[in-house]
Amino acid sequence: MSRYYYIAGNWKMHYTRAQSAELAQTLVNELRDGKHKYLVAPSFTNIETVSAIIEGTNIRLGAQNCAPEEQGAHTGEVSVLQLKDIGVQTIILGHSERRHSYKEDDTLINKKVKLALKHGFEVILCIGELLEEREAGKVEEVCKTQIAGGLEGVTAAELGNVVIAYEPVWAIGTGKTATPQDAEAVHSFVRQTIAQLYGEDAASKIIIQYGGSVKPENAAELMAMENINGALVGGASLKADTFVPIAKFA
Ligand code: PGA
Repeated sequence: MSRYYYIAGNWKMHYTRAQSAELAQTLVNELRDGKHKYLVAPSFTNIETVSAIIEGTNIRLGAQNCAPEEQGAHTGEVSVLQLKDIGVQTIILGHSERRHSYKEDDTLINKKVKLALKHGFEVILCIGELLEEREAGKVEEVCKTQIAGGLEGVTAAELGNVVIAYEPVWAIGTGKTATPQDAEAVHSFVRQTIAQLYGEDAASKIIIQYGGSVKPENAAELMAMENINGALVGGASLKADTFVPIAKFA
């Protein structure tokens, strides 16, 4: 299996330009000999600053969202054209904070996914259940709906630019991580769902990241699971001291 690990840092709404630049520079130095695929996603206002620092390195440049339209009267939104212009390569879409705090549904997320793919971006599509959905035995139903809804109309060729991030909402920013076994069960289900939609070959190739309180202490045991191919890291990505050991897990 030629899958590789993909470790991404989602900086959310943290840091000024100077702070982002400092973190990016440290990561460039410390991940230079890293063996995996890396990404950082700063706030919109800091993307250009970080871009200048990571350009030409082994760290990709991500954005945390984009508008569902290319341009026009959309106050407060940021377009894929603008993100492309400043060198963004990857867009995180469907993050649980977008879904739950900002009420983004699968239809809206799907519009963004298709637009980003059309413009050649890699997309990290986040999915994951709420605690009450897990307790009601609905994990698979929720994940399947979010995958099918998010990828509706995405072609097999475009799927090559899609990464799925499974992030159980109850584990995000709470310090509570899914056990490697619980995460693996869902990752395996995600891969089966991709197989049903796009065939076995596509399913075997797709990268499925785990997210939700990933830390230096639990990264290796999560990555040891057969269907976990990387991590989407929030809190622990804000400091090189915690992100680097995750990115270089052994
Ligand atoms: P966390 O966030 O690592 O702070 O739990 C993960 C995420 O929101 O992607």
